[in-house]
Amino acid sequence: MCGIVGYTGFQDAYNIVINGLRRLEYRGYDSAGIVLESINNKFEVEKTKGKVDDLVNISNQLKGTAKIGMGHTRWATHGVPSDRNSHPHLSNNDKIALVHNGIIENYDTIKTMLTEKGFTFKSETDTEVLVNLVQYFMDANAETDFPTAVRYALNEVYGAYAITVMHEDYPGVLVVGRLGSPLAIGIGDKEYFIASDASPFVEFTKEAIYLEEGHMATISLEGGVDIRTINDNSKIEPEIQELKLSLEQIEKGGYEHFMLKEIFEQPKSVHDTMRGRLLVEEGVIKMAGIWDHIEKFKNANRIIIIACGTSWHAGLIGEYLIEEYARIPVEVEYASEFRYRNPIITDKDVVIAISQSGETADTMAALKLAKEKGAFIYGICNVVDSSIARITDAGSYTHAGPEIGVASTKAFTAQLTILTLIAFKLGKHNGNLGNADFMRLIAELDAIPKRIEDVLSSTHDLVQNIAKDFVGATNFLYLGRGYNYPAALEGALKLKEISYIHAEGYPAAEMKHGPIALIDENMPIVIIAPKKGHYDKIVSNVQEIKARKGKIIAVVNKGDTQVSAMADYVIEIPETAECFSPIVASVPLQLLAYYIAVYRGANVDQPRNLAKSVTVE
Ligand code: F6R
Repeated sequence: MCGIVGYTGFQDAYNIVINGLRRLEYRGYDSAGIVLESINNKFEVEKTKGKVDDLVNISNQLKGTAKIGMGHTRWATHGVPSDRNSHPHLSNNDKIALVHNGIIENYDTIKTMLTEKGFTFKSETDTEVLVNLVQYFMDANAETDFPTAVRYALNEVYGAYAITVMHEDYPGVLVVGRLGSPLAIGIGDKEYFIASDASPFVEFTKEAIYLEEGHMATISLEGGVDIRTINDNSKIEPEIQELKLSLEQIEKGGYEHFMLKEIFEQPKSVHDTMRGRLLVEEGVIKMAGIWDHIEKFKNANRIIIIACGTSWHAGLIGEYLIEEYARIPVEVEYASEFRYRNPIITDKDVVIAISQSGETADTMAALKLAKEKGAFIYGICNVVDSSIARITDAGSYTHAGPEIGVASTKAFTAQLTILTLIAFKLGKHNGNLGNADFMRLIAELDAIPKRIEDVLSSTHDLVQNIAKDFVGATNFLYLGRGYNYPAALEGALKLKEISYIHAEGYPAAEMKHGPIALIDENMPIVIIAPKKGHYDKIVSNVQEIKARKGKIIAVVNKGDTQVSAMADYVIEIPETAECFSPIVASVPLQLLAYYIAVYRGANVDQPRNLAKSVTVE
């Protein structure tokens, strides 16, 4: 989704904005732009379709010319990716510049009103309407100052936005506002930074304010950060937070892509997810978020898990875990469906939202709906202080560290780890998971980071070689049963999103109800077949595939003979309890998707059309 960077201070604004935009490239975008206010109070704007490198090619002359500016990476919603539609957008009088992340839903009505008043528009965007609405309010009354006009304009629009605005006659001033899309303000020494997340300014300051929903701020060296509510201009005391993010965490660390780095980080990230929570010696799982609300979980009629994409796949595995070990009924829903289908929710329901970014618009809206209907809402997020983390009644962070690659990898295995901890904790507490089984399972869970490490070292080269044979594939099937059915869905999603090969995941037994028609000697089929997990049934499925000459890539336990004998390619993983196998089996599937995409020459970290955090619906 769109990325925003702003700066006012004493350094070269061009460098700060351009480097900041590079840090936000992971969010996904198709065009980029910059505006600087030079010392003689004139705006200099450059924008282009394409990448930040393309912007640099046309804007180098702006280096060293300004101490205030802002930039934008655009992920097209209204209007095709083009120079014209790129941000920043200027008002008709050329005095106001605005960058925007989100969607102004009533832009058409406002555009009609402004057109009737004589305004003209150069782009197809909703953003250009907003910047002209600010001008309209300033023109309408000479007493209306710039921040007030921005506030008036924001009160007229609905939809989702994070914006940053500059005015030529207000040198050194940035006005920002947010509703639905995130915005952070970095507080330096005699300088301020604005960004969609803290990564563009982490090397300059560790202090930040995360702007709250419905708030705006006027920022300048003289006036500091003046935060107000957008609806009634009430003053808000800023809450300054200490950033936990480090520069090292958001750099590639010698890997060719963030995705590969993040795949290899999984022994550590899964360990970090369990750190301080899983106390094997004491036989305890400590999770304050669960424990402080244990009665809610104990008395819940059911748990509803809502999420999107990879996080939804984690939710499906969560259903298997919680139902097996805690015996509490679980439903898993796509947030985008849940929010619009008038679901029956009561105060006896616990709703768990899973979201890496904590900013996904559909998940956020579904949670708000559940909250309104009285449910207890719990968040499993990776990004600390994200919007979802802040609106939930309680929650558990996954602590996987920043995930920059658009394809989610380490966040997924961290989500599975948290869901496992929750299932075991609830099951132990309500007596459905006996002590001996609990102790055995937590000891095995504790060893999972080591198992992932083993899988990485034993399968990396092998999977790389297998990938070479499938560079030209046009379709893939992924099959699994039980816990590994969602792992198959996730394997397929990873492949399609970064390699653009069509891939589908299925429960292995469903194959006979349709997908089997697709199988011939050209169809690669990845089948997840660990020993514990309906192995005999999977053997039959493999035979059915073999009989139709499908190309089988089997993920099996070390020492497997039956499935291996029929498979064209064999990837061995260590044997674990069935409930842990999706964590371990996902790792070679991530590598397979990664290497197929690399060999096809795809942009692995920034796949076409995709955004890391989907802040529009
Ligand atoms: C897939 C992927 C997406 C996200 C989905 C939800 O690799 O990254 O499918 O999982 O957009 O995002 P979060 O978890 O941030 O809510």
